[in-house]
Amino acid sequence: MHKDENLTRKLDHLQLAKSLTDGPLTTGFEDIRLIHYATSSLSLQDIDTAFCFGSKRLEMPLLINAITGGPELSTQINRSLARVAKELGIGMAVGSQRLALSNPVLKSSYMIARKENPHGLIFANLGALCSPDEALQAVEMLEADGLQLHLNLAQELAMAEGDRNFSGIVDSIAAVAEKVPVPVIVKEVGFGLSAETAQELWQRGIKYMDVGGQGGTNFATIERYRQGLALPSVFEGWGIPTAVSIAEVTTRCLPVTVIASGGIRSALEAIKALSLGADLVGIAGPAVKLLMDHSEEALLAYFNEFIYDFRSLMILTGSSNLGKLSKLPIIITGKTKDWLEQRGIMDHFKQRTLINPQP
Ligand SMILES: Cc1cc2nc3c(=O)[nH]c(=O)nc-3n(C[C@H](O)[C@H](O)[C@H](O)COP(=O)(O)O)c2cc1C
Repeated sequence: MHKDENLTRKLDHLQLAKSLTDGPLTTGFEDIRLIHYATSSLSLQDIDTAFCFGSKRLEMPLLINAITGGPELSTQINRSLARVAKELGIGMAVGSQRLALSNPVLKSSYMIARKENPHGLIFANLGALCSPDEALQAVEMLEADGLQLHLNLAQELAMAEGDRNFSGIVDSIAAVAEKVPVPVIVKEVGFGLSAETAQELWQRGIKYMDVGGQGGTNFATIERYRQGLALPSVFEGWGIPTAVSIAEVTTRCLPVTVIASGGIRSALEAIKALSLGADLVGIAGPAVKLLMDHSEEALLAYFNEFIYDFRSLMILTGSSNLGKLSKLPIIITGKTKDWLEQRGIMDHFKQRTLINPQP
């Protein structure tokens, strides 16, 4: 595809992500309930939300997920995202660096993130079918702490100009993971990872997975609007809801770090994600809307409230640190329960629904 068309596509994605709403299907978090602990004797200052990714320490298990790079607007966005991430001590990923690999002039729109946040946790990003050499270049461009490889088959298939051939995708991921000197995070972009996919990736050496589930930003809808189609495509109702996908991936008890993303909008969804076994959460859509419709200050305010709410919910569940969240009693109802029962996953959570004799 022509370089200008690629830049236009990036701008279209930003504009449409800003304007469209989440869904139409939900994340499944509405089916997850945690138990209120009315006699919790914790104070806000007792709450420890620190999370270490390699040598980098985050104040919160929170990541601004991959969004953009390439056009001038992306430089502004990545600058603001990096400043907010630095201020709050949270992580950040840049969008796919594919454009910068073919057009080095565009590198600065990604490198701005490292310039603004020299010591922060920053992930590079490429599609899962990249070569090991391309992956190395992407990591070196940012002195990245990790490399996200995105799986976006449904998006490509929904795109008029998208890929149609995904042969060798797992071999490609494994080859990159062997070559790059940083952790490789395999991530979906809104259609979710299953237990089988998690197992397959782990067997090929992947220890970091971002479930990127259904219920938040919907790239099938974005592609429909880009093409000016009147009716929803089949891909818009396709995927694994985020809450389900976390349970699918964590039920195997693999020694992997799990990032929960796809429709995480508030601290309530974040705490449910961690109680289902995720290690940290990623957010993309709200950052686009707040930066493009409002300001960097508005984005900072959103995340500050998110962090306050998250710490408050830790008090209300009697959790002084993150390790306690995956042991909390949890109630799973509705369609999420149906799914997990039919997949034989509910047993993994059964013990956690029982009354705890010693709070
Ligand atoms: C405008 C926009 C551009 C995105 N570009 C990328 C990308 O280049 N690479 C990638 O891995 N994910 C990309 N994503 C996907 C997000 O990282 C995330 O997986 C997805 O939006 C689901 O999270 P959300 O519901 O919080 O938005 C993009 C998302 C948005 C909104």
